[in-house]
Amino acid sequence: MKYSSRLEKSINSKKFVTGRGLELSSKLIKKLDQAFKNKMINNQILFSLVVLKKYVFLQTNNTDKNTKLLNEYKLFLKKNKLNEATINDYKSRKLPYNKTKNIKSFSELNKLRRSVRYFSTKKVNLKDIYKALEISQNTPSVCNRQGWKVFLFNKKKDIDFFRTIHKGFSDKKNQPLNCLILITFNKNFFEYPIERNQGYTDSGLFSMSLVYALADMGYATCTLNINNLTHKNEYLLRKRFSISKNLSLVMFIAVGHYLKLNITPVSVKNKVKDFVIKK
Ligand SMILES: Cc1cc2nc3c(=O)[nH]c(=O)nc-3n(C[C@H](O)[C@H](O)[C@H](O)COP(=O)(O)O)c2cc1C
Repeated sequence: MKYSSRLEKSINSKKFVTGRGLELSSKLIKKLDQAFKNKMINNQILFSLVVLKKYVFLQTNNTDKNTKLLNEYKLFLKKNKLNEATINDYKSRKLPYNKTKNIKSFSELNKLRRSVRYFSTKKVNLKDIYKALEISQNTPSVCNRQGWKVFLFNKKKDIDFFRTIHKGFSDKKNQPLNCLILITFNKNFFEYPIERNQGYTDSGLFSMSLVYALADMGYATCTLNINNLTHKNEYLLRKRFSISKNLSLVMFIAVGHYLKLNITPVSVKNKVKDFVIKK
């Protein structure tokens, strides 16, 4: 559920911001209300309920006491005959920082990879990034085009600029960041209109390889949206780093070292039966 995933990030912020996400929580309550009314209860719905309970607790157990949210939440529970005491308590995921390096099996690595939004201040070694990029070069791409182009940033002034155009790592005090990757692809590598989406597919696969390569090397990462850049911010980004119009922007990847104690959202995953259609 898109709303609960964003509320979950908010719950796991180092500094919970009262008042943030209220509009989203209202939308989530409406969606949950519909789901319960239509008896469409699944894993994600039940987990969203757990997230909502925690979010409402955090928003209402402080001096600002958000009574509007509390009333909305209580009404929703009442309407759907839900007893709050039977909803599980939310527990963040704790990532073991020292167990992620050079794991022998892919399934173990895959279990441990999570988007991490709070890194330590330790510098990322660029040699490691180049090594991870080399590993990622093994990614399949249409007709082996390898259309991706990657920008690497590790200068403080560039990271500070990034924080002004993207909300992902905007909390300068609590979210140290010293290495950022921008994935793009060259449109000229593809035929238009037939291959217009291929660059995104190939670069998406490449990005995933890179994230796993970095995870295998013991780095924490967070993939970050390009779509929430305003036109003005995209213009400023392109201008500052001379990114030509031939290059389509795909995503950012923030890279850093784990903290000793890493708290992340649970980010519950769907069950296979929820997305597989066997014919
Ligand atoms: C293309 C892409 C863009 C994303 N953008 C953001 C973002 O802007 N901010 C953020 O905090 N997380 C972002 N994420 C991370 C997702 O929120 C995260 O992958 C999802 O919640 C699942 O959690 P997990 O990665 O820990 O399994 C993005 C992920 C992808 C693949």
